[in-house]
Amino acid sequence: MSEQTSSAPKPAVPHIAQKAPFAVEVEEGKIYFWCACGLSSRQPFCDGSHKGTDMQSLKWTADKSGKVWFCGCKATARQPMCDGRHKAL
Ligand code: FES
Repeated sequence: MSEQTSSAPKPAVPHIAQKAPFAVEVEEGKIYFWCACGLSSRQPFCDGSHKGTDMQSLKWTADKSGKVWFCGCKATARQPMCDGRHKAL
């Protein structure tokens, strides 16, 4: 018998958190963990909700301070940043 902690099915592909990027002011040298699964309630960052999926967060370090646009649709080819792909979804 398998042990399961949640009855909610976990997706095999990323969930679309939103069809737009998340604009965030980042600090140079600070480490961020971008949510790749789309299930986090702390978008665009990981809150551990990927547990039980084959996905995990992506560690990213800001090379300078300022505003960046993290991918919200989770389909970007330029993780963790938006590449405009949400416009085609
Ligand atoms: S909650 Fe989505 S990658 Fe961790």
